[in-house]
Amino acid sequence: MKKESADEVSNRERGDQEATSGVATATRTKLQQTRTDTYAEWDTEETILAVKAALEERHTVTMIEADEDAPQRFLQVQPDIVFNIAEGLRGPSRESQIPAVLELLGIPYTGSDPITLGICLDKARAKEVLSYYKIPTPAFRVLNTFAELDGAPVEFPCVVKPLHEGSSRGILDSSLVRTRDELERQIKRVLTDYDEPTLVEKFLPGREFTAALLGNGSSLRVLPIIEIRFDQLPAGVNPLYSYEAKWIWDQSDHPIEMYDCPAYIDAELEGHIKETCVRAFHALRCRDWCRIDVRLDEHDTPHILELNPLPGILPNPDDHSAFPMAARAAGFSYSSMLNAVLDAGSLRNGLA
Ligand SMILES: Nc1ncnc2c1ncn2[C@@H]1O[C@H](COP(=O)(O)OP(=O)(O)O)[C@@H](O)[C@H]1O
Ligand SMILES: [Mg+2]
Repeated sequence: MKKESADEVSNRERGDQEATSGVATATRTKLQQTRTDTYAEWDTEETILAVKAALEERHTVTMIEADEDAPQRFLQVQPDIVFNIAEGLRGPSRESQIPAVLELLGIPYTGSDPITLGICLDKARAKEVLSYYKIPTPAFRVLNTFAELDGAPVEFPCVVKPLHEGSSRGILDSSLVRTRDELERQIKRVLTDYDEPTLVEKFLPGREFTAALLGNGSSLRVLPIIEIRFDQLPAGVNPLYSYEAKWIWDQSDHPIEMYDCPAYIDAELEGHIKETCVRAFHALRCRDWCRIDVRLDEHDTPHILELNPLPGILPNPDDHSAFPMAARAAGFSYSSMLNAVLDAGSLRNGLA
């Protein structure tokens, strides 16, 4: 598995509309994903090349690998704007690193700032902000060590997950726990396998949705909502969009059709989900784009599970990547979706 990241940059060197964007990735295929979750957050080579091709329809693009040499490369290339898809290499602040460097260098970039990216990657911090604004999110606690559990009462069922991972890393079918025994086993697994704090969250039993948001301010749009259909999962498994559901059971050569887009929901629920997502987008000060995971509680109230300000963008529709799926339902091609994100970032930076 080779680490290969890229930043895509467009310059105004010819005086016409050209800009540059940045991307950090590692090559992997969905099949490789079945063996390890180490690279689950990184983009595939196919994705990087598809992003490059999309931006090249309107801009000169230079790829810049989002590694330790990236600051130097940014200085050499002097892009007008960076299209940031850098997931980062390591640590809980990994998604903030490239945007922070770009701020240091005074180079505009698409998407959220380092503060928002860092907070959203720490699911508990994001939930604390949501709670302040009274935006529903499941009750939770964070355990830094196993000892912190210390016989404390826990309401079952609950979900045990790593504090700052994405792409369902560490969320297995067994992460939904109904007994103290299961809870303790899952907490130990997360603490050991990921060496990071564990988030224990109240399990929400209702329908699950994900919403793609595009734009800023009064131009912010919620694209058609996607429902995750748990009834399509193999018999007997838990209703979770788990690692197995995302990367193992659903393969392009034997896909699980677990997505309805647009979701079959009445106008009232649709309005409620959209309003909750827009409030969350603003509460976390997201910019340009974000994908937000939502689940209903036992009273059908939408709750925010998490925000993804650097959403997955697999180009092949068979891979069921949610942001491109919602964009397709809204009439965007893959490239017009990415160029809409770049336009939002350019406009925000006074470059349009
Ligand atoms: N509190 C919860 N209640 C119900 N399901 C949950 C809860 N937390 C996570 N899940 C399930 O696990 C999936 C992955 O969790 P999420 O927090 O979105 O992590 P990731 O960053 O890996 O996508 C969700 O899409 C949902 O199906
Ligand atoms: Mg999620």
